[in-house]
Amino acid sequence: MAGGDVWSKLRNLDAYPKTLEDFRVKTFSGAAISIVAILLIVVLFTSELVYYLSTEVEPELFVDTSRDEKMRINVDVTFHKMACAFLHLDIMDVSGENELDVEHDIFKQRLTETGTPIYEEPEEVDDLGDESDSAVGALKMMKEGLDPNRCESCYGAESEQNKCCNTCEAVREAYRRKGWALTDIQGIEQCEREGWTEKLKAQAKEGCRIYGHLEVNKVAGNFHIAPGKSFQQHSIHFHDLNSFGREALGKFNMSHTINHLSFGIEYPGVVNPLDGHSETADKLGATMYQYYVKIVPTRYRKARGQELNTNQYSVTMHQRHIDHKAGQTGLPGMFVMFEISPILVQLSERTHSFFHFLTGVLAIIGGIFSVAGMIDSFVYHGLRSLKKKQELGKLG
Ligand SMILES: *[C@@H]1O[C@H](CO)[C@@H](O)[C@H](O)[C@H]1NC(C)=O
Repeated sequence: MAGGDVWSKLRNLDAYPKTLEDFRVKTFSGAAISIVAILLIVVLFTSELVYYLSTEVEPELFVDTSRDEKMRINVDVTFHKMACAFLHLDIMDVSGENELDVEHDIFKQRLTETGTPIYEEPEEVDDLGDESDSAVGALKMMKEGLDPNRCESCYGAESEQNKCCNTCEAVREAYRRKGWALTDIQGIEQCEREGWTEKLKAQAKEGCRIYGHLEVNKVAGNFHIAPGKSFQQHSIHFHDLNSFGREALGKFNMSHTINHLSFGIEYPGVVNPLDGHSETADKLGATMYQYYVKIVPTRYRKARGQELNTNQYSVTMHQRHIDHKAGQTGLPGMFVMFEISPILVQLSERTHSFFHFLTGVLAIIGGIFSVAGMIDSFVYHGLRSLKKKQELGKLG
């Protein structure tokens, strides 16, 4: 029978010849080894599965050839001892673009001495609430018996375009334009009427949280939060500190906490080194906190092909106390100087191959079974020969 021949030849290829059930013995040691082997397989399989399901992030470096023109700065800083009325945020960059007293997308939240917010709704704060333009302001003026068409003195700072200064703010602005110092607001009628000094005093103990985001050109630049309204004169940047009076100047406490500072959108695993950073002033007066930030453009590629173009940064910090009496110049405040690195970091998420996983699992199962089998036969034969020797000993 030719068919039967082929079958018996095929049978010869069986790599797993079976022994008859009757000849098998189940031993206690074999059971123990089996349990240990199964436990080991479960543990190793789980670790292999965890590894397979995890993603790895692989960094690569390139020269940044992208031309994103804008960069987003997210900022959230709390000044514990500076009132919102004092603080202003300005941005400047090397392209010469200045944005002074930024209020767009930046909010100031007044805080009490202990740090709780003063209003439910944070307002886009105007200087001490300058009411001259609003309807409420007009009504108030009527009540106080002021002529809406009046023209009050600018105390010598009148100019061609600006002949009248009807509010305290207008007088200050006129002085700023002239580049003069308004050392004493006490004698100025408009300011007295508006209760400037009282307002400043009332807010003197408050804190301020400034938060929001800025869009800037993607070039080196700086932004700062400093007391005093800023102004530009002969292309030099000034802050008007005079209207607070000499006394206030010596009492500034620029302690602050950076709740958040980032340059761009978040990506998984981002570390913003300044988040939660706190500075406490040990001396009152003008202290400059300078943060030198190097921004590293970063592209994050998700495993599913999505790409995030964002930035990470590293920072060094410098702190300087300015002694105005000793002739040192400088401005109190928090300054962030940023530079853009030419190197782009690309972070790519990588998933693990399924076939690699399969190979690993089979290797674990097969390996453990064969090793366990070897151990089992050692133990079995060892025990058997021991028993035999004991029996021989009894006989002898
Ligand atoms: C400034 O304010 C901080 C925070 O409230 C405080 O801890 C620190 O002692 C103050 N510094 C001085 C010199 O008073």
